[in-house]
Amino acid sequence: MRKTLIREAEISLESYLSAYSKMVDAELKKLFVRHAEEPASILKAMSYSIFAGGKRLRPILVLAAHECCGGKAKDALKTAAALEMIHTYSLIHDDLPAMDDDDLRRGRLTNHKVFGEALAILAGDGLLTYAFEVAAQNSAEMGLDGKRASALIQAIACGAGSSGMVGGQVADLEAEDWQNKNHGFNPKRHLEYIHLHKTASLIMASLEAGGILARASESRLKALSDYGRSLGLAFQIADDVLDAVGDKKKMGKMGSDAANHKLTYVSLYGVEKARQMARTEAEKAKAALGVFSAQQNQWLKRIADYTIERDK
Ligand code: IPE
Ligand code: IPE
Ligand code: MG
Ligand code: MG
Ligand code: MG
Repeated sequence: MRKTLIREAEISLESYLSAYSKMVDAELKKLFVRHAEEPASILKAMSYSIFAGGKRLRPILVLAAHECCGGKAKDALKTAAALEMIHTYSLIHDDLPAMDDDDLRRGRLTNHKVFGEALAILAGDGLLTYAFEVAAQNSAEMGLDGKRASALIQAIACGAGSSGMVGGQVADLEAEDWQNKNHGFNPKRHLEYIHLHKTASLIMASLEAGGILARASESRLKALSDYGRSLGLAFQIADDVLDAVGDKKKMGKMGSDAANHKLTYVSLYGVEKARQMARTEAEKAKAALGVFSAQQNQWLKRIADYTIERDK
């Protein structure tokens, strides 16, 4: 009996994630038609990575946060698509030879392997910029007041920029070869900084964006942001674990942390301790959602468990 219930819960999260990622894909399809004056090559390079699959976690978080605060998912689809564009740009750049130098992503050759480095860099630039166009359209269509409209754009920009994801990527690169170089940092604190910035920042922005579009109160926005901080940390710790011991075929990427001598939760704490730490953060994430009713926060809570149990 218990087993059946557990299985039902799993299936229903699976179908939730699949239905929402289909909605996001349909929105992206509408957004990726050729614009006047846009070279066909850049659209092709951008589309290659955006439609390569991917779990669509960040856009799903936009939609889930929006619904948790009383909004309708379809009203937040453009912002959801925008967050996926920023995430996809970050992956294209992350894979470049000057960064992690990876050849496989989302089960296919990385963007620069197919289109060359110059177009891959520009495809990233194009995705990042288009994201803000689309998010701004969403806030206008929703009739957000000036304060909320600017809060939306600011939340996304802060999450993505040099105080957020970009800053984390810089810290990640600077910590390479940490065991052999004297970097002069405290590895535990530096590692937490890396993960909170390179990954949690954009996840927090996704949740905040969903909340802002739903005109959520300050206390609810704070709860979403606290949830996102712990969820993002848990998500990146799980990514480190998968990089070390995951099934590369399922993941659609080869894992390059060891080859790049990265500072990760696995290299610092080992696989078992890293798994425990991810579990603790996922629990913290769920505990941050107390301002919402059980009905409202159920999907975000289930997503927290999924984040650390996933195999890709
Ligand atoms: C990979 O993100 C990069 C990280 C921040 C860990 P995802 O694991 O969400 O990758 P996709 O979008 O599913 O390909
Ligand atoms: C990347 O972290 C975080 C980004 C902002 C892209 P990783 O370098 O660990 O991501 P993967 O493992 O290549 O997907
Ligand atoms: Mg990286
Ligand atoms: Mg990488
Ligand atoms: Mg990784």
